[in-house]
This record gives sequence, structure tokens and C-alpha cells, in this order.
Amino acid sequence: MTTRISPEEMARQRSFSEKISRIYENRSSPPLAHVHTFGCQQNVSDGEKIKGMLAQMGCGFSQSPEGADIVIFNTCAVRENAEDRVFGNLGALKHEKAKNPDMIIAVCGCMTEQKHIVERIKKSFPHVDLVFGTNALYTLPELIYGQLTDRKRVFSVSESDGVIAEGLPILRENSISASIPIMYGCNNFCSYCIVPYVRGRERSREKSDIIAEVKQALKDGAKDVWLLGQNVNSYGKELGTSFSELLREINDISGEFRISYMSSHPKDATKELIDAIAECEKVTRHFHLPVQSGSDRILKLMNRHYDRAHYLETVGYIRSKIPDCALTSDIIVGFPGETYEDFKDTLSLIEQVRFDSLYTFIFSLRKGTKAEKMPDPVSAEEKGKWFRELLSVQEEIGMNMYEKYVGKTLRVLCMGQGRTDGTLLTGKTPQNVIVDFAGEKDLIGKFVNVKIEKALNWALLGTID
Ligand code: SAM
Ligand code: SF4
Ligand code: F3S
Repeated sequence: MTTRISPEEMARQRSFSEKISRIYENRSSPPLAHVHTFGCQQNVSDGEKIKGMLAQMGCGFSQSPEGADIVIFNTCAVRENAEDRVFGNLGALKHEKAKNPDMIIAVCGCMTEQKHIVERIKKSFPHVDLVFGTNALYTLPELIYGQLTDRKRVFSVSESDGVIAEGLPILRENSISASIPIMYGCNNFCSYCIVPYVRGRERSREKSDIIAEVKQALKDGAKDVWLLGQNVNSYGKELGTSFSELLREINDISGEFRISYMSSHPKDATKELIDAIAECEKVTRHFHLPVQSGSDRILKLMNRHYDRAHYLETVGYIRSKIPDCALTSDIIVGFPGETYEDFKDTLSLIEQVRFDSLYTFIFSLRKGTKAEKMPDPVSAEEKGKWFRELLSVQEEIGMNMYEKYVGKTLRVLCMGQGRTDGTLLTGKTPQNVIVDFAGEKDLIGKFVNVKIEKALNWALLGTID
């Protein structure tokens, strides 16, 4: 059952922040916190709340753990290499703690919702003071206060199905883009995926809370609103509303800004939703529709609840309604039991769809998932070979995808200084494609018309029109 944290409990947590700031007030310089977030945009959004709470406690921020008073690792569990990176970084902190025994080291996020990980931290990383799960995020003030007044190690991981805690302070990483979670958790249980186990059951925020947060972000200068959820297409089911309704309401807010969302499950990408997206002029012309595999046999084993034909039909409908849209996707190579024939079905699907770009992953075994028990006879070397084959096929497709923009004038949201050349500005087209162009810095955060002159294979080059 979802627990909505009461306003009284949120106020109690704020009172701990006030107590902490009073403790810190007596210092000659403000305490420093270092927050390192791993993983997806959902985690980045949690990281912004962690920073918001730390700022309320009176902390400043440092780019590295060196010399920090509080170090927080906000972790990701989606693949083994994500976890390995966290353990590597945690190991390196041992020396910092030896130099500064008062340092508070905390680990939170998705990894800490797994019992075997918590046990490993307990045993092998004795310099970690605090471990708290995704559902205990809002209790950070109480946990830090506990550390400041009584230095016992605390492992605060609940068995809860998931909470919704409204009203946490947010320190956004970027003033132009605002990531706004609209729902938490996941009910889909794709057989390879750890997310439903570490993020709990699907639960939606009230529409009024989301709209208020969007309006506040716009007031603070945001122009690029990202609505987050593991499957935004199923937003609002338990509240008697829908993602289409939410999009239409946000689209009706006045002013020039963009609406994007992440992620969208193909089984729930209905015609009604695609029609709503087509009609909402502020919604970006970009569909990220993770397909995972082109083989019906593998899609079934993955528990994805759609087949290749359904996916292709959805893509066809999107392109008929929004011809100028960009399509991106996620692919997993080497799912247990996948044969080269299955893999060739994935290759043929990407050749048929011609995605603008792909996020590609080699299957990573996650403890406790259904796929953990499935026979997996293909060697890592063989999977690596398939993976490289996939990359080279996509590289060729991707090279030509950006050519279609050359000669067109597009409305571009200027995001900052360019990556190719510091003298250029960089922005995003309505398809969320990056474009670099010459211009004055005061355009950052504004919309400009840019004529596309050249396509590189990862970005566009243009001039202000
Ligand atoms: N909820 C999103 C969805 O269904 O599209 C995706 C969430 S997941 C954080 C992002 C991507 O990681 C997935 O689309 C999948 O391709 C990949 N992924 C998840 N579990 C994986 C695993 N065990 N091994 C390899 N890739 C995985
Ligand atoms: Fe994982 Fe599937 Fe849920 Fe996405 S929809 S988070 S891939 S279980
Ligand atoms: Fe990782 Fe958790 Fe996101 S497992 S991908 S940080 S939801």
C-alpha cells in the first residue's frame, strides 16, 4: 500500500533541519556536503531533493568528498557495473574518513533497497555511517541529526511498498531544465529488471501537486520541463485521471516552454495518448519508446506484454500523426536464452524502424529477478560480438538520421555554451536533438530560430535565422 507522508511528519522533519542548522551556526564556515548521484533522471531528481534538504540544514556543497563534512552516495542498481562503480568509490572514501573521522558517510538510493547489498556495506565498509532506502529519503534531516548527536551506525531500509512525500525542498542542478517526477515505482516486473524491487509499487502524485511544481519551476526560469516516471503512460490510473489529461493541462499553462517525459512503455502507448501528444504544441516531438528486443520469443520471456507487430504499428501511428518526430529506444543484448536468430530479429527491427539513436545494454543479471533463474548458455564474448554488431548497424543508420534537418529552420531552446567549441552556444530542437550555433551568451535560457547548416553524427550545427 502507498503511504502518503502526512504534513505533520514533513514538518517534524523540517524541525530536525532547523536544529541541525542551529548546531552548524556556531562554526566559522558553513559545513560542506558532497552528493554523488548515480543512475537515471529519477535518481538525479532525488539527488536534487537531498541537496535541497542539506541546504536547509545550512550546508554548502563541494565537488569532491575531500574535506566534506557529509558525503552522500545516491546509488543505482540497474546493472552490475553501476553497483561496481559505487563500491569502488565507497572503498576510496576509507582514506578520507581516516583523515577526518567526523565525516558522515551515507549511502542511499536503489542499491540500498537490496538486503544483500546492505549486508555487504555493513560488513565490508565499516566507514559508512548511514544507509537509507529510497522510501526513507524524506527522513534525511532526522538521520543526519542522529549522526550529529549520537554516532551509531544506522541502516534505515523499510519493507514499505512505497511512499509519496510532498513538499521537500529542491535544489535544481540546472536552471533551464526542471525534472519533475509524476509517479514513482513500477508494477511491470520485466523479468530482467530490478527497478520494481527497489522502487516499490507504482504510485502517482496528485495532479494538483504536479501542476503547482511545474508552475513554480517556470516561475523560477525553467523552460524545459521533464515529467518523470518508469512508465509515465500509466500515470493517474488509481486517481481517475490519465497522462493525456495531465499533458493537456500542463500544455495549457501560458508562456513558451517545452514538455518532455521519460519513460514510456510501448504496451501503454495508446492512440489516444499519441493523439494528445500530437495536439499539445509544447510537448517535444521526441518519442523514447524502449523496445528491448525485436524477437517475439524474447519479448515474451522479458514479460514486456507487446509483440513486434504491436510495436511497429505504434511507431507507424506516431509517424503518421507527427511526421517530424524523433524516435529513440533502449535495447538489451544477450538476454538469457537469446539465440543469434533472436538477435537478428532485433537488428532487422532497428533497420525497419530507423531510430534516431539507441541506448544499448548487455544483459546484466540482477539478483531476485525472474531472469536470474533462466538458463543463459551464450558466453560473454559472444554477447560482446553481437553488441558490437548492433552498434555498427545503428551507427550507419544514425549517421543519416540528422541529414533530414539540414536546410530547415528550427525553434531551438538555448541551453548553454557549446561542447564542440566553447565560443558556440548549444541548444535543443523540438526533437530534443542538440544543435550548436554562434550567438551571444544572453540567449541562454531563451528560444531562438536556428537554420541547420550541417549534420554531425551526434549533433547539428546551425546559424541564427
Ligand atoms: N522504465 C523504463 C522502461 O521500461 O523503459 C526503463 C528503466 S531502466 C532504468 C532503463 C533501461 O535499462 C531499460 O529500458 C533496459 O533497457 C535497461 N535495463 C534494465 N535492466 C537491465 C538489465 N538487467 N540488464 C541490462 N539492461 C537493463
Ligand atoms: Fe524496469 Fe520494465 Fe519497470 Fe521499466 S517497465 S522500470 S524496464 S520493470
Ligand atoms: Fe538505477 Fe534506480 Fe534509476 S536502479 S536506473 S537509479 S530507478
